[in-house]
Amino acid sequence: AFTPRVFSGIQPSGGLTLGNYLGALKRFVDSQNSGVQSIYCMVDLHAITVWQDPASLRNATRELCAGYIASGLDPEKSILFNQSQVSAHAELGWVFNCVARMGWMQRMTQWKDKAGKNAQNASLGLFAYPALMAADILLYHATHVPVGEDQKQHVELTRDIATKFNHDFGVDFFPIPEPVIEGTATRVMSLRDGSKKMSKSDPSDMSRINLTDDSDSIAAKIRKAKTDPDALPSEAEGLEGRPEAKNLVNIYAALNDQTQAQVLAEVGGRQFSEFKPMLADLAVAKLSPISTEMGRLMQTPDEIDAILRRGAERAREIANPIMARTLDIVGM
Ligand code: ADP
Ligand code: NA
Repeated sequence: AFTPRVFSGIQPSGGLTLGNYLGALKRFVDSQNSGVQSIYCMVDLHAITVWQDPASLRNATRELCAGYIASGLDPEKSILFNQSQVSAHAELGWVFNCVARMGWMQRMTQWKDKAGKNAQNASLGLFAYPALMAADILLYHATHVPVGEDQKQHVELTRDIATKFNHDFGVDFFPIPEPVIEGTATRVMSLRDGSKKMSKSDPSDMSRINLTDDSDSIAAKIRKAKTDPDALPSEAEGLEGRPEAKNLVNIYAALNDQTQAQVLAEVGGRQFSEFKPMLADLAVAKLSPISTEMGRLMQTPDEIDAILRRGAERAREIANPIMARTLDIVGM
């Protein structure tokens, strides 16, 4: 039996969004506060699977760390660190490149979406990304991985890699980690297109709400959000077939720690013209303290770097013995 341990990561590939906050950061804070050892990574090695300007990457990594802390993660309780500062991630990633099969990778929907029709011109790293993600998780013998819905398939692949490694080498060395996908905002959708997820990696989507947005732009983005012409449904009518309404109700519920049913009981029958200002006020109330704190932290980048260096030391204390044992099992 493995001791419960939580691992998750976010790419420093642009500004954090409301989707990252509700699907990941807010839930990281919950798991930190439940007392389980929690390890949260800035996954910069994943970010460079697509082009990143070096100065922007450095800044995005610091800003991501500020976002973690401003959302409520305590660098004394949780381990916050930068992936590239713990070299065993790349090392175990290589071992897992040799465990994972090409066919497994080809089935990943994120690979298909991101590489698109131009797969021949995508980086080899983008293709291998899920094997590195398996290394991120298994390097700490993590048992639980809080993520948004879009990462479910990658955590399942991590389970396959752990299972195959254990089987191939006749060991019971790696735990089979569980994805933890909970709450009402496991997939926050774009505010202009209810069929696409809100993503920091999609620079063309100007409707996305960033954690660093000021109150006016948060309110404006919510006011402009695409909806249908009907009033909000009652709890009994429900949100099936109404993706835009469902998205806004789910965002409201997640921000307010309510269920979808509780929100519908409160707002069912109202027009969007009434609901959108309620949602905007709530979003501003919840997000503006985070944005203010991020701005404050970003004024002392040296302190952020020191937090990340200390986090990397703590991460290496766990990772290095697991890496050494892995090499020994493989015959190295
Ligand atoms: P992005 O797709 O915004 O670049 P990442 O790939 O770095 O984000 O993912 C970081 C975490 O945020 C993951 O756990 C992912 O599942 C979660 N996440 C990303 N977008 C959303 C969203 N729209 N709704 C819910 N969770 C999300
Ligand atoms: Na993603």
